[in-house]
Amino acid sequence: MKIVITGGCGFLGVGIARKLMDRPEIDSLVLFDAHVPDALPNGLDDRVTMVEGDISDRVQVAAIIDRDDIGVFHLASVVSAGGEQDFDLAMRVNFDGGRHILEALRARKGTPRIVLASSLAVFGGPDMPEAVTEMTRVVPQTTYGMTKAIGELMINDYTRKGFIDGRAARLPTVIIRPGAPNAAASGFASGVFREPLSGQDYVLPVAMDTRMMVIGARSAIAGLTGLMDADGEGLGADRVVNLPNNAYAVTDMIAALERVAAENGITFGPVTPKPDPAIEAIVKSWPLAMEDSRARALGLPADESLEAIIREYIADWL
Ligand SMILES: NC(=O)c1ccc[n+]([C@@H]2O[C@H](COP(=O)([O-])OP(=O)(O)OC[C@H]3O[C@@H](n4cnc5c(N)ncnc54)[C@H](O)[C@@H]3O)[C@@H](O)[C@H]2O)c1
Repeated sequence: MKIVITGGCGFLGVGIARKLMDRPEIDSLVLFDAHVPDALPNGLDDRVTMVEGDISDRVQVAAIIDRDDIGVFHLASVVSAGGEQDFDLAMRVNFDGGRHILEALRARKGTPRIVLASSLAVFGGPDMPEAVTEMTRVVPQTTYGMTKAIGELMINDYTRKGFIDGRAARLPTVIIRPGAPNAAASGFASGVFREPLSGQDYVLPVAMDTRMMVIGARSAIAGLTGLMDADGEGLGADRVVNLPNNAYAVTDMIAALERVAAENGITFGPVTPKPDPAIEAIVKSWPLAMEDSRARALGLPADESLEAIIREYIADWL
């Protein structure tokens, strides 16, 4: 079978591709992305090709969905702060792009599987309960969250119509992103580990007592592939699943970092808070707990602790 990962050269896309390399049934894996690196990322074999293109171009999208035995991880997206800066771009990439991929799948025979990477940003507003469930009304407070909520609705309806076999994973903030940050308002929850661990100073764009709902990168990637593998009939009519999560304050993150750095003899750089009101406003609009029993019943993994997430990052990236 063929797998297409849109946004495939990003953080989660490359991680999913690496995880799928031990599956002999996959004979072709395409990383479709607006920005393709010069060389294939490490850990990928010759079944993988990178295709540079724009998800908002319907013709380019149809060209990569060229087989009936196909599965898609749809990750290409303008992210939260990026969407607040450019509404039209967010609509083109997230809304038009999402529709193009669903229409391209609909044109194939059968009901191809797709997993949409959705987000906790579908929730928000003053009446949001402290813990959201899959049934909590979505009242997104950003254009990004709005486009993800529409994506979830399209996944359910294209599935109901028998055009696809869709799934949407609501991700909390995934930590620890290696390399350069993207335009996500949640980026501090990775930066606060990544920069100090590489000996650099980190200017924190939120207050120290800010709390954030997170999932470790390995669990997020396993959650997305696990949801792809889940039995469609078992999922029923509502294909949206909240991935496992835990909330921590920045002070908890720094305390965990201190413990793991000490274990590894790492001297880490200082963290200095300098709150950015635009970032704080977006972060404060998000929920701090998301009921995740559905994901756990599906066997999607949860993190053991913040320390375990930091240790995995050191093992995978440093
Ligand atoms: N990482 C997180 O904390 C998190 C949390 C919630 C949801 N998500 C969602 O998961 C998905 C993947 O996140 P990530 O952290 O890997 O992000 P990322 O920014 O590392 O990757 C996204 C990729 O999409 C590509 N892209 C952007 N516009 C495109 C376009 N027009 N056409 C083709 N490709 C385009 C980018 O070049 C990038 O490589 C996104 O949809 C994101 O909204 C991520």
